[in-house]
Amino acid sequence: MRFLKILFLFIVFQASAQQGGMWIPSLLEGMNEDEMQSLGSKLTAKDIYDVNNSSLKDAIGHFNGGCTSEVISDKGLVLTNHHCGFSQIQSHSSLENDYLKDGFWAMSLEEELPNEGLFIEFIVSIHDVTDVVLKGVNDAMTEKEKQSQITKNSNEAMKNWSKETWQDVKTKSFYKGNQYFLFVTERFEDIRLVGAPPSSIGKFGSDTDNWVFPRHTGDFSMFRIYADANNRPAKYSKDNKPYKPKHFLPISLDGVEEGDFTMVFGFPGRTNEYLPAVAIEHITKDYNPTNIAIREAALKVIDQKMKESDAVRIKYASKQARIANAWKKWIGENLGIDKSNAVEKRREFEATFTKALKERGLESKYGTILPEFDKLYKDFSPINIKRRNFIEVFLVTNELMQMTFRAYQVEQTLIANPQNIERAKASLIGRLKSIHKNYDVDVDKGVYQNVMPLYGKKMDASIYDKTAFTNLESALKLLEGSAEDVIKNLNNDAAYAYAKPIIAEFFNTIDREFQQKNTPITALQTQYMTALMDALPNARYFPDANSTLRVTYGQVRGYSPRDAVYYNPVSYLDGVIEKYVPGDYEFDVPKKLRDLHKTKDYGQYADSNGKVPVCFLGTNHTTGGNSGSPAIDANGNLVGLNFDRVWEGTMSDMNYDPEICRNIMVDLRYVLFIVDKYAGAKHLIDEMKLVHPKQ
Ligand code: ARG
Ligand code: GLU
Repeated sequence: MRFLKILFLFIVFQASAQQGGMWIPSLLEGMNEDEMQSLGSKLTAKDIYDVNNSSLKDAIGHFNGGCTSEVISDKGLVLTNHHCGFSQIQSHSSLENDYLKDGFWAMSLEEELPNEGLFIEFIVSIHDVTDVVLKGVNDAMTEKEKQSQITKNSNEAMKNWSKETWQDVKTKSFYKGNQYFLFVTERFEDIRLVGAPPSSIGKFGSDTDNWVFPRHTGDFSMFRIYADANNRPAKYSKDNKPYKPKHFLPISLDGVEEGDFTMVFGFPGRTNEYLPAVAIEHITKDYNPTNIAIREAALKVIDQKMKESDAVRIKYASKQARIANAWKKWIGENLGIDKSNAVEKRREFEATFTKALKERGLESKYGTILPEFDKLYKDFSPINIKRRNFIEVFLVTNELMQMTFRAYQVEQTLIANPQNIERAKASLIGRLKSIHKNYDVDVDKGVYQNVMPLYGKKMDASIYDKTAFTNLESALKLLEGSAEDVIKNLNNDAAYAYAKPIIAEFFNTIDREFQQKNTPITALQTQYMTALMDALPNARYFPDANSTLRVTYGQVRGYSPRDAVYYNPVSYLDGVIEKYVPGDYEFDVPKKLRDLHKTKDYGQYADSNGKVPVCFLGTNHTTGGNSGSPAIDANGNLVGLNFDRVWEGTMSDMNYDPEICRNIMVDLRYVLFIVDKYAGAKHLIDEMKLVHPKQ
């Protein structure tokens, strides 16, 4: 009995130590530091974040605002995912130099390729500015008044903050507007492509394997940060020098095994962990399915045409990946919510919350929040779906409609402010050029025919034969002349005339109604967050992801996706060979890699069992934006590169469940194996610091 009790306590502790959470790096002292150490970490809070000394955070860069990257040498060498560098790799590719297909390796600094527009941003320091930002905000104010006061205060806080000339500042809201932090940042803009494996390694398994385990993808690419003569951020110049970082991550050759501590340090984008049950129900039962259907209809055409033609494959690779990624994620999200009874469990939690309100005498203050959510969501649901379906058709899948959408915005500008004609034209020209760079009218027409009926609008495929937008030259002609000419040209175009009333409806009714119904929900969510912390003060609260730097930690663990099935946490190169399908667009394996496997030419990159590890799983709570984040071991060394989550666990954005939510990382030894043995880029290995913390 006594033993059972101890065992029980142990299990409760174990579970509570694995509840997920994305924590603010400057606030780890105390609870998080203790918990991390209890999971095996040897790091102190100051090792991770320190303003006065270099610390791990100095090696972590926000990659182009959407992914994470880390510095791995004292010459500014940077590691991120293949899918994060994908559009840069694609932009340097052509049929002759197909870097997507064959990979790319710069064998010297001179061969590294510049990337216009690409940037990496580091966090210099983080400051709590809640008091300043919320000054003068009170409950007598309307939502609008509150927001404008907050904006005013935070602009002032940023203006008055003292910083170096080459640095920037920004403020961000946390805990649904209950707390505000200011970030001092440094943004580097001369970032060059150093290396990428072929897609048959970097995107091995493609969409079939995306979001699932067992996984065998070498999802990595390498870049280098260049700085000016003073080692400061600068625009591209051939005189720039490799950046000397304040800290770079040593790489462990000893890897990890089940139960080992790991932490993932990066820039998670967006989560929604404090939703009421009614919202989860709305998202998974009504909202997701319609968006899934639209993407599926588009993919049917794109996938087929990509298989038929190499030119289309290169043009549509990046776009296809983007569409397929969220499509599959939403399917997994629905599955996980269903399987874990998340809605029901959230209702049970709400009963606990309601009881706590009663016990603490907070009923009159917060008692109406949950019933109010029910009412608001019922009213919000149809318009939320309608608005998102429009976006899926007009901004995500159908390119002709996207061009008409941008043109509509230009027409509106020309009507309201004709003096802005040059700027309006220039921005549309930029958009048209970027769409036409990778455009195939047949593909797009097929997409149009498939998706438009799902938005409930009558289709007219003949617009594709009549419109000027499907050809760049003729599209640009529409923009010649005065404001009046442009307006006339646009309205005479068949596709524009078709789309205009649909777009007008979006702006004039759909989006307005959405804003109107969404505002009170956002305000109520802020109140709910406050109420939760008041009513259940002993629970753990971490702020939802908001594209700021966070620490999440856990252990290497397998999981059981369904009855009688258990996934081991580590996959090996043997598994790549098991999945090999000669010539397949997803599962082909380059000959050189097969040869290395056959001869077991693994160098120093094999595990103690003689096999090369490829991917591993952990209980780290991650989301989109954590792609490319380092997985760091108990001693602060790099062991993995985060790139995905398991399918059943993608619901962690709303409902983290330690039973089945796992993040997927590439083992750094696989990365090094590919760089060294496959690509022969030994000079890059020589730049890195390789360590053996377990010996
Ligand atoms: N699912 C991962 C993420 O959300 C990887 C996406 C890229 N890979 C792919 N097969 N599309 O970004
Ligand atoms: N692949 C995702 C990204 O691009 C990370 C996976 C996830 O959503 O957890 O950030």
